[in-house]
Amino acid sequence: MKYTVIGNTNVKISQIGLGTWQFGSKGWGYGTDFTRKDAISIVHKALELGINVIDTAEAYGRGKSEEIIGEAIKGYDRERIIITTKFLPIAIRPSSVVKALNKSLKRLQTDYIDIYLIHWPAPWLIGRVLNHMERMVDEGLIRFIGISNFNLGRLRKAQKKMYRHRIQVNQVNYSLARNQVENDLLPYTQREKITVMAYSPLGQGWLTGKYTAGNTPGGTRRRNRLFRSKNFKRGEQLLSLVKEIAEDHQVTMAQVALNWVIRNSSVIAIPGVKNLAQLEGNIGSADFELANDEIDRIKKTLKEFHPRLLM
Ligand SMILES: NC(=O)c1ccc[n+]([C@@H]2O[C@H](COP(=O)([O-])OP(=O)(O)OC[C@H]3O[C@@H](n4cnc5c(N)ncnc54)[C@H](OP(=O)(O)O)[C@@H]3O)[C@@H](O)[C@H]2O)c1
Repeated sequence: MKYTVIGNTNVKISQIGLGTWQFGSKGWGYGTDFTRKDAISIVHKALELGINVIDTAEAYGRGKSEEIIGEAIKGYDRERIIITTKFLPIAIRPSSVVKALNKSLKRLQTDYIDIYLIHWPAPWLIGRVLNHMERMVDEGLIRFIGISNFNLGRLRKAQKKMYRHRIQVNQVNYSLARNQVENDLLPYTQREKITVMAYSPLGQGWLTGKYTAGNTPGGTRRRNRLFRSKNFKRGEQLLSLVKEIAEDHQVTMAQVALNWVIRNSSVIAIPGVKNLAQLEGNIGSADFELANDEIDRIKKTLKEFHPRLLM
């Protein structure tokens, strides 16, 4: 496992984390493909294998994901686990973040959150929500403040709203299949010492090679336009290059995809998993290095890859 630090702190964080939108979410096959017991073993195995960051949100499985994590980490040394959870700013009142935090703490059975994120930008609320979050840091209820799905412009605006603390994390959609952040957000966050948490780092499975235009996943991923046939066509070159590189290194396509995002030490990836084999595979993605010519070939191929996506 490779480790880096959170933002401008000296708190150590694993570059592969555990994403848990899957836990408690029927749209991801919870209850059919895997159970609560499986989810708990995934958390235990992740911690055992060196992952120290678990990402969840109040919205995942309507709180079930947080509940499962709360149950799973009982008996573990809390100080060695970095819990990231998120507040969904759908309510009109900025103070709803306070209620949301209390509910998350209860479900997670903990008295503090390590990294608390605003799940989506809600420009009319952000300043006041961030100020509530600063107070939460002062009160010891959260350690670090983060945001999610903020583009560069919104991140800069949010930074200007901070008085006593800083934004340490921005969680965004980043993978070989969606790499726009490499052009603007990443150079900035790297300079500013803000950690980028790459969500959907496997393109929700699109980059693993197991899906094709004729074999797409259902559930939540029906909304993901990457899985449209035309995007598989547009991505043919990219997917075959990832496959070729994976074969040369004797690793999987998923491992190449994750290795790509964590090459940058200011980025951590938080792939979601549904079983132990996927988890162990993802952890292995930090164990090899892409050669310079492979990086160049990927960059060249990415320039030619233009999937049609909504966001
Ligand atoms: N902040 C936000 O707005 C936001 C949005 C989305 C996600 N997230 C967070 O980011 C995490 C990850 O994103 P994501 O779940 O959307 O996408 P992802 O990590 O790119 O893909 C996860 C899916 O890929 C498949 N998979 C995982 N590891 C694999 C492996 N080694 N080999 C083959 N298939 C593998 C599994 O599904 P199958 O086996 O069914 O294919 C898994 O459910 C989430 O769990 C959540 O914590 C945050």
